[in-house]
Amino acid sequence: MVKTILITGATDGIGKHLAKKLASEGHHVILHGRNPQKLELATQEVRAVSLRGRVSSYLADFSNLEDVYRFVGEIKRDFQSIDVLFNNAGLYAGKERKASAENVELTFMLSVLAPYILTTELSPLLEQSSDVRVINTSSYMHRFAKVKDLDFGFENDYNPGLAYNNSKLYTIWMTRYLARDFFLRGSNITVNSYHPGLISTNLGNNSSDEQTKKSLFGRLMKSFSKNLDEGIETGYYLTLAEEVTGLTGYYFDDKKVKAVSEKGYTFEKAQKLMNYCQEKIDLFKEKQDV
Ligand SMILES: NC(=O)c1ccc[n+]([C@@H]2O[C@H](COP(=O)([O-])OP(=O)(O)OC[C@H]3O[C@@H](n4cnc5c(N)ncnc54)[C@H](OP(=O)(O)O)[C@@H]3O)[C@@H](O)[C@H]2O)c1
Repeated sequence: MVKTILITGATDGIGKHLAKKLASEGHHVILHGRNPQKLELATQEVRAVSLRGRVSSYLADFSNLEDVYRFVGEIKRDFQSIDVLFNNAGLYAGKERKASAENVELTFMLSVLAPYILTTELSPLLEQSSDVRVINTSSYMHRFAKVKDLDFGFENDYNPGLAYNNSKLYTIWMTRYLARDFFLRGSNITVNSYHPGLISTNLGNNSSDEQTKKSLFGRLMKSFSKNLDEGIETGYYLTLAEEVTGLTGYYFDDKKVKAVSEKGYTFEKAQKLMNYCQEKIDLFKEKQDV
């Protein structure tokens, strides 16, 4: 069955490689990117291997909520249903904390707030599908998160590693929360998170500071990482495998459900995370009304 699959961060690495494979099998892929030149190139590359030529593309920089909401509006305008929302865009930020106008830290913005807004805003389109899947990209690095006082903005203590590890843990908390929420509301939307493996991509190279490039994602990734064909295996599995149908709220690694590092998870903490997201959304919307 041909699926309509929206992949964020499809201009590089895992997102682009997955888009090519899915398009080559005849699925309609909707590519998202933040850089116009890279998006144009990725669209051409994906279209060149596409079986049916059904490739759409949209530009949005997730570092600001204006772009996130404009993107959502364009998708709502152009599509009536979506089968899979693959929240893949992510980054390993630089050593200076960067934040949106609402003071949402950049890593958190990409890993948590943008996926949250996309999932909730696009839920009416997703609910049209008979086998709907939201896939949130977490990381094994969530195991190294240090959660002290639920400082979701990393205002008291910022470094790129902490922001990355904690945001990937919060991705899992959000996934659990949304999976439960959709289930309790009788929605057919399933939400899972996953770790793709340690994959050789541009992650970290996009960071503006040299120290970040040379450290974790410079040396470690080159020596141990897998290639992109291996890097998309679990994402591809979550997108299409029949045995995943109906599963929701889980964390996957290597095509299997894996236990997550709890890090003191409680439903109340997940609720606080969601409240934080909602406060930032409200702040943004208030400003739009002025
Ligand atoms: N590679 C790994 O070993 C690994 C391990 C665990 C988890 N992950 C996760 O897997 C996902 C994909 O990463 P990757 O390794 O494929 O990295 P990548 O090659 O750097 O791709 C990241 C994608 O996100 C996009 N992006 C970055 N900043 C953005 C912004 N402000 N607004 C919108 N899009 C933005 C990038 O756009 P540009 O092309 O314009 O830069 C690119 O398309 C990420 O969530 C990452 O955290 C990766």
